[in-house]
Amino acid sequence: MKQPILFIIITVAVICGTQEQRNARVIDSTSSYTNNNLVEDSLIDNELIVSFVVFRHGDRTPDPAELALFPAWHIDDKVFFPHGKQSLTTKGRHRAFALGEYLRQRYNDTISELYLQEEISVRTTDYARTKMTALSVLAALYMPQPSQRWHPDINWQPVPYSTVPSKDDDLLYFDTCSLYKTLRERIYDIPTIHDTIDSYRDLFKTLSVETGRNITTPEEVFFLDNLFQAMENVGVAAPKWVEHVMPQIKNMTKIDYYSQYYNAELTRLTSGVLLADILNITKSAIAGNTDVAKLYLYSAHEHNVAALLAALRVWVPHQPKYASAAFLELRRNLDTGKYVVMAVYAPEAGGPGIVLPIEECGGQPTCDYDKFISLSQELLLSRQDFKNICSTVS
Ligand SMILES: *[C@@H]1O[C@H](CO)[C@@H](O)[C@H](O)[C@H]1NC(C)=O
Ligand SMILES: *[C@@H]1O[C@H](CO)[C@@H](O)[C@H](O)[C@H]1NC(C)=O
Ligand SMILES: *[C@@H]1O[C@H](CO)[C@@H](O)[C@H](O)[C@H]1NC(C)=O
Ligand SMILES: *[C@@H]1O[C@H](CO)[C@@H](O)[C@H](O)[C@H]1NC(C)=O
Repeated sequence: MKQPILFIIITVAVICGTQEQRNARVIDSTSSYTNNNLVEDSLIDNELIVSFVVFRHGDRTPDPAELALFPAWHIDDKVFFPHGKQSLTTKGRHRAFALGEYLRQRYNDTISELYLQEEISVRTTDYARTKMTALSVLAALYMPQPSQRWHPDINWQPVPYSTVPSKDDDLLYFDTCSLYKTLRERIYDIPTIHDTIDSYRDLFKTLSVETGRNITTPEEVFFLDNLFQAMENVGVAAPKWVEHVMPQIKNMTKIDYYSQYYNAELTRLTSGVLLADILNITKSAIAGNTDVAKLYLYSAHEHNVAALLAALRVWVPHQPKYASAAFLELRRNLDTGKYVVMAVYAPEAGGPGIVLPIEECGGQPTCDYDKFISLSQELLLSRQDFKNICSTVS
C-alpha cells in the first residue's frame, strides 16, 4: 500500500460520520496550523480574562525505559553528563526560557511585571524535566523588577510551582489508566488501521532484530523514535540502519498519535479531568470570583499538549515539539460583554501562537462560551470518576 495513513483517514472518515471533519484535517496538517491575519484583528475588541497554558518540557535526555527498548545499543552513561538521564538539557532550558519570553509578551497586559502570587498558578508533573522547564519558563516570565530584585548579581527570583506524585496526578497523568490502554488497543484492531499497521510488518521485524527487543506496537515504535531524538540531544547519532527506516518510523509515530485521541471516549480519559477543572475555573471567573488567577500554567509532556488540543477540537495528529504550548483563553467581547473561548497553539518554542478555529463552533477564531460548554459535556470527567475508571497504580 503506497499511502497507508491517507487510506486510514479516508476509510475511517467514512465509517465514523462525526469524526469526518477531524480526520479530514489529518491529511494536510501543515495548512491547518497556518495562522491568518484575520485573527489578530478579531482580538482588538476582546479582553483576556484568564488563560490556561499546557506546555511540553524542553529538550531532554532519554528515560531508562526508552533505553531498555534498544538493549543492543551500548551507550556509555557518560554521554548524559552533567544532566543525567530523563532530564532537561541546556538547549532544553533555552527553549523553555523562550516560551517564558513569549508568555511575557503575550500576557504583559494581563499579568503584572511584578510576581504577584494571586495572578498565577503553576503546576508540573512529577518529573525533573518538567519541573526544570517550569523554572526556566518562570525565569523569563518574572525577571525581577527593581522592587523584587533581591541579589545584585542575580537577575532571577524564586517563583513557586506545585506538583503531586504521578500516582496521585489525576490532572496530567493518564499513562497508567488501564481503561485508556484497553480502548487504545481496540483502535489498533479497527480493520483498516490493523491492516495498515500490518503493512509495516517488515519495519517491526527490522526493529525487533536490530534492537534486540520485541517491537510490536506503534506506541513502541514511537518510544524508539523518542529515544533517537533524546540521544541526538546529547550528540549521539542513531545507528546507520535507522536512517533507512526513519520515514516508516515517523509514519508509525503518526498512527500512534492518530489513535491516542481517536474518539471522545479516549479524549475524555486523557484530558477530561483537566478540562473540567479549567471550565470550573472559567465559571468562577465569570461569576466574578476574585480568587481566580489570570494565568494557569501546566508544565507537562507532549501527550498533555496533544490532549488539550484534542479537547479543544483543534487536534491534528503529530508529535508536539519540545516547549510547544497549547492555550485555552477565556475572553470577553468589549462591545457585547459576551464571553468567548479561544484555542491557540504555539508549535515552536517561543511562539508565535496560532489561533485555531474550534471545530463545530462556526469556523471563527473564537467560540461562544456557552456553545463551547455544551460541546465539551461529553469530554468532562470528575476526579472521582477518573479514580474509579482508571486504576492509577501501574
Ligand atoms: C508514509 O505515509 C505517507 C502518507 O500516507 C505515504 O505517502 C508514504 O509513502 C509513507 N512512507 C513510508 C516510508 O511508508
Ligand atoms: C511589558 O509592559 C511594560 C510596561 O508597560 C513595558 O515596559 C515592557 O517593555 C513590556 N514587556 C514586554 C515584553 O512587552
Ligand atoms: C512478541 O510479541 C508478540 C505480541 O505481543 C507475541 O505474540 C510474541 O510471542 C512475542 N515474541 C517474543 C519472541 O517475545
Ligand atoms: C469549582 O470551583 C469552586 C470555586 O473555585 C471550588 O470551590 C470547587 O471545589 C470547584 N469544583 C471542582 C469540581 O473542582
